[in-house]
Amino acid sequence: MNRIAVVPGSFDPVTLGHLDVIERAAGLFDEVHVLVVHNPDKSALLPIAQRVSLIERSIEDAGIVGNIVVASWSVGLLVDYCTDVGAHVLVKGIRSQVDVAYETPMAIVNRHLAAVETVFILPNPANAHVSSSLVRQVSALGGDVSPYVPTAVYEYLQET
Ligand code: PNS
Repeated sequence: MNRIAVVPGSFDPVTLGHLDVIERAAGLFDEVHVLVVHNPDKSALLPIAQRVSLIERSIEDAGIVGNIVVASWSVGLLVDYCTDVGAHVLVKGIRSQVDVAYETPMAIVNRHLAAVETVFILPNPANAHVSSSLVRQVSALGGDVSPYVPTAVYEYLQET
């Protein structure tokens, strides 16, 4: 049986914390779809296509290609994408109790909607403080975000 998992998120932009979760998921499942999803609760920095491109470049640079598909989804529920590609598992990284509180209702709703289970992965604690929103803020104010993001993202933010 081909075990397919989806790692969804805004990835605005992808961080080293995300890459860590993606790499761990790629080691656990036969096929991993990294899915860029628009989150209406957040104001976006990067266009969706740019986020996809930066994830593709970052996973290639990190050498974690092979069983990873990068895609985006904006036409309905996240679980609709899972059903379309035959995935029964969502993977989320958990940095703290705050993430548990944020993720738990979504995990239960996604299970009710389409019997899609959510697997929580504990990333490297070295990245526990890293978030896309902090990267956006520090970058916008001229700070150095190189410790938090892949090189491709750092270079993109420098250019824009
Ligand atoms: O990186 P984020 O912003 O925390 O990711 C949140 C995301 C995009 C995974 C979440 O907002 C989501 O699942 N959106 C899809 C809409 C959906 O299916 N909602 C109902 C079930 S929670």
